[in-house]
Amino acid sequence: MTVDVAILGSTGSIGTQALDIVRHANNQAAARGDDPAYRVVGLGAGSAAAVVAAQAVEFEVSSTALADPTQLDALRDALPVALASGAGAGASALNDCIVDADVVINGIVGFAGLDTTIETLKAGKRLGLANKESLIAAGPVVRRVRQTPGAEIVPVDSEHCALHQCLRANESFDGDRMDQVRKLIVIASGGPFRGRSSAQLREVTVEGALNHPTWSMGPKITVDSSTLMNKGLEVIEANELFGVGFDRIDVVVHPQSVVHSMVEYTDGATLAQLSMPDMRLCIAYALDFDDRHEHAYGGIDWSTLSRLDFELPDREAFPCLDLAYHAGRLGGTAPAVLSAANEVAVDAFLHGVIGWLDIARAVEAVLAKHNGERDPDLDAILAADAWARAHASEYVAT
Ligand SMILES: NC(=O)c1ccc[n+]([C@@H]2O[C@H](COP(=O)([O-])OP(=O)(O)OC[C@H]3O[C@@H](n4cnc5c(N)ncnc54)[C@H](OP(=O)(O)O)[C@@H]3O)[C@@H](O)[C@H]2O)c1
Repeated sequence: MTVDVAILGSTGSIGTQALDIVRHANNQAAARGDDPAYRVVGLGAGSAAAVVAAQAVEFEVSSTALADPTQLDALRDALPVALASGAGAGASALNDCIVDADVVINGIVGFAGLDTTIETLKAGKRLGLANKESLIAAGPVVRRVRQTPGAEIVPVDSEHCALHQCLRANESFDGDRMDQVRKLIVIASGGPFRGRSSAQLREVTVEGALNHPTWSMGPKITVDSSTLMNKGLEVIEANELFGVGFDRIDVVVHPQSVVHSMVEYTDGATLAQLSMPDMRLCIAYALDFDDRHEHAYGGIDWSTLSRLDFELPDREAFPCLDLAYHAGRLGGTAPAVLSAANEVAVDAFLHGVIGWLDIARAVEAVLAKHNGERDPDLDAILAADAWARAHASEYVAT
């Protein structure tokens, strides 16, 4: 059966890899004389009109959207007449892209992905979630819409994809078997600055922060990996997805990025998921985790893999990790504030306005000022996000 897929953030690292999976799976199906495995029914992005148009032509997609309305004419002009009428711009056009989908891959970067997360779950669809920021910022709201019949989140983040696989292996999602989970161990690569002291971290540059040792990703998440904020966000994400509480989530650094995360059970047994660092494995899993398809995106060559190292993170040199634990434990609007302040600070760092060490300082300062709400609705989340952006912008400007 052909699965209908919408890909939001289609022009980015996650989006283009999702299209790669569709291309590969459909070529394989054609070679066997089978129906296509996937049909792309919607494509959405920020402003990259020419890229979206080229994707729509290749995959014959009639529903396309850009967040940026100033680029709509460019998108329409680049599309053939038959596809141009299905092009739109703005939030409602992005939402229109998911209407016909069975599965939605949310590869939008940042808080901008929140609408897609909520609308997909509200519509009772499967959400392949790469956009961790929406789950982190709006946890209480997402928890409610996740109850919609048919709605389901399958994490695309490699660590959570690994945890999902390890938990499924023990059938932990059934009944009360989550009680048998002692700990979720979220793996971190350590990023490009692993092993550096606080003093050495004063010297880091944008180029250095963007030079991730094992993963090739978009700029925001790559900087987040360098500060360990990405790991902190993933701790909050793991708590939202699997509901075990922060005391049962640990972070361990593993520089080879071959073990993606682990689950320790109450008897001491630890299950791990291993594969080479390739996000296509996780995206393919989110598209169809009931079946393991024939590809080897993450296949390990055991003749070259000689060692796996593990160490604890340096929490003093990388304070963003504990800032995220702190915000996660506060709950309510605090994770939204953490995530928004971080987005502003990372953007300022990427534009050369602040230094790398200032990212943690900005987030800490904004979080300290926040007087949070415990059980926020969507309006309260949006207000907290706007408040945090304003205060973070003020901080980076001064
Ligand atoms: N890359 C990875 O390997 C990886 C791994 C795990 C999790 N993730 C998560 O996946 C998400 C995407 O990361 P990425 O690395 O793929 O980022 P990226 O390469 O920077 O791509 C971002 C995508 O979001 C689109 N976008 C930006 N603003 C938008 C808006 N307001 N509305 C709709 N679309 C918008 C961009 O469109 P334009 O091109 O038009 O700007 C682009 O398609 C992030 O949340 C990240 O944390 C990524």
